Amino acid sequence: MKVQRATVFFALAALAACSGKTLERADLLDPANCKDCHPDHYREWSGSMHAYAADDPVFLALNQKGQRETNGALGDFCVKCHAPIALEEGLTHDGLNLADVPRPMKGVTCYFCHSVEAVEGEHNNPLVLSDDLVLRGGIEDPVDNEAHHSEYSALHDRTQRDSSTLCGPCHDVVSPKGVAIERTYQEWQASLYSHDTPAELQTCGRCHMAGRDGLAADYPGVKVRRVQAHTFAAVDVALTPWPEMEAQRNEVQRQLDPTLFNQLCVTRVTGGLDVEVDLENFAAGHAFPSGASADRRVHVELIATLGGEVVFSSGALAPGQRLVDLVDPNLWRLGDRLYDTQGQEVHTFWAADRYEGQLLIAPTTIAPWDPDYVNPHYRRTYRIPGLADRITLRVFLQPIGVDILDQLIQSGDLDPVIRDRMPTFELRNSFVEWTTELGEGCTPQT
Ligand code: HEC
Ligand code: HEC
Ligand code: HEC
Ligand code: HEC
Ligand code: HEC
Repeated sequence: MKVQRATVFFALAALAACSGKTLERADLLDPANCKDCHPDHYREWSGSMHAYAADDPVFLALNQKGQRETNGALGDFCVKCHAPIALEEGLTHDGLNLADVPRPMKGVTCYFCHSVEAVEGEHNNPLVLSDDLVLRGGIEDPVDNEAHHSEYSALHDRTQRDSSTLCGPCHDVVSPKGVAIERTYQEWQASLYSHDTPAELQTCGRCHMAGRDGLAADYPGVKVRRVQAHTFAAVDVALTPWPEMEAQRNEVQRQLDPTLFNQLCVTRVTGGLDVEVDLENFAAGHAFPSGASADRRVHVELIATLGGEVVFSSGALAPGQRLVDLVDPNLWRLGDRLYDTQGQEVHTFWAADRYEGQLLIAPTTIAPWDPDYVNPHYRRTYRIPGLADRITLRVFLQPIGVDILDQLIQSGDLDPVIRDRMPTFELRNSFVEWTTELGEGCTPQT
C-alpha cells in the first residue's frame, strides 16, 4: 500500500514538472518549452552554433555590410539558413532587425530540424517543414507524451544515408552569383563516407552527434536508449556571453585534435636537409577545412633548430601577429581564397566570382586501384639550409581570421571588442617532432 502511494506521488510530480499540457504551434516554436522534458538536449543545443547562428556578431556584421554593398539585393539570402524560423514567421526578411526578433525565433531551432518532412534540393536550405505539429526523430517507438506527437523519420535517423540530406543542404552555400562558397555536403557526397554500405557509410549525424546511453526525455515510462549529443561543435565558438561557452570550446578542441594524421620525412641532401611534410585528413567526413574555409586561417608551422637556435622556420607567428601579415615564401596555408573577375582577392562572398586554394579531401574509396581513388596525401618539401638537430611540425586553425574582423571593424559593422576574443586552436595530435637520433626517414612511422 505504502509503495503504491509513493509511485503515484512520483508519477504526478513528474507530470507536473513537465507542465502537462499540449503544446500549440506557438509553444512548439520556443526551445525553452522543450527544456523541462529534454534538459540535456536543450542545454547542449543552447551552447551550439545552431542556437547562436542569428546572434553571432560576425554574422550580423557581414550581413549588414552585404545588404549595404548590394543595396539590399542580398535580401533573405543569409537569414534563410541563419534564422530560418524568423524568416518563415515573417519576422524578418533581410536580418537587419534581428536584434528585435524574439529570442525563440532566432537561430536553427529544435522545431526547425524536428519538423522537416522533405528535402527539395542540395544547397541553400531547401528543407520543407510539415505543419502537422508532429516532432520527428530517430526513435521508432517513442513513449507517448501529452506535450507533442512524435514520429520516426529516416531523415532524422543517423543510421540512414538520407539523414545527411537533413544537414547537407544548409551546409552547402551557393552565392547569388552562383559560386559554391561552402561545399561540405558536396565534399561528403564525393567521399567514401557517403557510400550506402554498412562498412563505409558515415552520415553527418554519426560523426557530429555522438551517441550515449541515457533518457531521451525526463518523463515517466521512458527507458534507457541511445541519445544523441546536440552540441554540434566543430570550429566556431561564441564571441559574446552565451550559454555553455567553456563546454563548447573544450568540445571544439577535442574534435579538432585528431582531425589530421601528419608525417615528417627527413633526408640529407648536399648543403642541408629536405623535410617532406605529409598532411592527411584522417577524421573529417568531407574536406578539411570545410564550410566557410575562406574565412578560416589554417596553416602549418615548421621550425628547425640546432643547439636550441632557430635555423629555419615557416608559419611561425609572433604573439598577436596576423597570418596575412606574415612574410613567408614557404607558408603552407589551407582553405579557399575568393577572387573577383579582375583577379583581386575579396573577403565577402557575395563579391566572389571564383574560389581557389587547397583543402585536404576525405578519402574517396578504400582501394587505391579503384578508378575513383584520389590520393588523399598532401605533401610539401621544405629545404633546411645546413644542419638541424630538432624539427617540429604543428597545425593551427583560427575560426575566423582577425584580418576579416579588422575589415568589419573598419567599416563600422563590428564592435572592436570582438577582435581579442577570437581564439586560435592547435590541432594537438598534429604535432610531430624529429630529432637527430631518429636519423633519416619518416616519423611517425606507419
Ligand atoms: C511533457 C514532456 C515533453 C515536452 C514538453 C517535450 N517533449 Fe519531446 N518527447 C517527450 C517524450 C516522453 C518523448 C519520447 C522519449 C522516448 O520514448 O524515449 C519525446 C520525444 C521527442 C522526440 C523524438 C521523436 C522520435 O520519434 O524520435 C523529439 C524530436 C522531441 N521529443 C522533441 C521535442 C521538442 C522540440 C520539444 C519542445 C518544442 C519537446 N520535445 C517537448 C516528452 C516531451
Ligand atoms: C537551417 C540550416 C541548417 C541545418 C538544417 C543544419 N545546419 Fe548546421 N549550421 C547551420 C548554420 C547557419 C551554422 C553556423 C552558425 C554560425 O556559426 O553562425 C551551422 C553550424 C553547424 C556546425 C558548427 C560549425 C562550426 O563552424 O563550428 C556543425 C558541426 C553543424 N552545423 C552540423 C550540422 C548537422 C550534423 C546537421 C544535421 C543534423 C545540421 N548542421 C543541420 C545551418 C544548418
Ligand atoms: C540541426 C538539427 C537539430 C536541432 C537544431 C535539434 N535537433 Fe534534436 N535531433 C536532431 C537529429 C538529426 C536527431 C536524431 C538523431 C538520430 O536518432 O539519429 C535528433 C534527436 C533528438 C531527440 C531524440 C533523442 C535522441 O537524442 O536521439 C530529441 C528528444 C531531440 N532531438 C530534441 C531536441 C531539442 C529539444 C532541441 C532544441 C533544444 C533539438 N533537438 C534541436 C537534430 C536536431
Ligand atoms: C567521418 C566523420 C565525419 C562525417 C561523416 C562528417 N563530418 Fe563534419 N567534421 C568531422 C571532423 C573530424 C571535422 C573537423 C573537426 C572540427 O572541425 O572540430 C568536421 C568539421 C565539420 C564542420 C566545420 C568545418 C570547417 O572547417 O569549418 C562542419 C560545418 C561539418 N563538419 C559539417 C558536416 C556535415 C554537414 C556533414 C554531412 C554532410 C559532416 N560534417 C560529415 C567529421 C565528420
Ligand atoms: C545555405 C545556408 C547558408 C547561407 C545562405 C548562409 N550561411 Fe553562413 N553559415 C552556414 C553554415 C552551414 C555555416 C557553418 C560553416 C562552417 O562551419 O564551416 C555558416 C557560417 C557562417 C559564419 C561563421 C563562420 C565564418 O565564415 O565567419 C558567418 C559569419 C556567416 N555564416 C555569415 C553568413 C552571411 C553574412 C550570409 C549571407 C551573405 C550567410 N552566412 C549565408 C550556412 C549558410
